[in-house]
Amino acid sequence: MIIDKHASSKRDAAEYALGLVRDGMRLGLGTGATADCFIDGLARRVIDDGLSLSMVATSHRTRTRAEQAGLKLSDLNDLRDLDLTIDGTDEIDIHFNLIKGGGGALLREKIVAQASKEMIVIADQSKRVESLGKFPLPIEIDRFGAQATSDMIKSCLHHLGFHECRQEFRRSGDKLVVTDGGHYIIDAELLRIDHPKEVAIQLNQIPGVVETGLFVGICDLAVLGRGNGEVDVIGPNEKARSDV
Ligand code: 5RP
Repeated sequence: MIIDKHASSKRDAAEYALGLVRDGMRLGLGTGATADCFIDGLARRVIDDGLSLSMVATSHRTRTRAEQAGLKLSDLNDLRDLDLTIDGTDEIDIHFNLIKGGGGALLREKIVAQASKEMIVIADQSKRVESLGKFPLPIEIDRFGAQATSDMIKSCLHHLGFHECRQEFRRSGDKLVVTDGGHYIIDAELLRIDHPKEVAIQLNQIPGVVETGLFVGICDLAVLGRGNGEVDVIGPNEKARSDV
């Protein structure tokens, strides 16, 4: 059995975020263990308080979880824009930049977050970092010519100063992981990313790169659980959005 030592912190952050949901909202539901806590709590609120919400999932996994909890989901094509997305993160730096995609849902997570007026990150304190990069950066790539794209990523990262960077295709057992969108993921160990916006822009120039897990200027508020029932809420939420 896998024991998540941050489980109670994740629950605390999710509980706090539940208090920010208002009747009639159009919500984006993130992916991961913390998002799962939020989804379970949301289902309770919909049933107990009779909330009427429209919701979009950021992954098949989240859709299944939400539907099993009794929530009815919509399609982003029908809603078009959302009030709020609540999602977890793998890292958050002091400027609110994120690395996401540990669960492989980075592309849909970014589409949904960008379609939202506001994105709130819920996480345990271990996700807070001075600068991004200890968590390997997920880069989602098209399957066509994947090896060539991998070479282009290596060369791009080299030009950006990441000389010793290790990168590998994400696997599950002996199979390459395929995302909900039908793509591969390359995880790049960059160790320290001082200019995440520049890295995101350069990687996105490579034709085979579909999206990176760098979320720059997207997160508006962070709720970080401490594991003792308390959370740190880090704002303000009036930050300008970047177009990355
Ligand atoms: C999935 C993600 C998750 O939000 C991230 O991996 C955090 O997960 P968890 O809440 O399980 O710690 O980006 O693609």
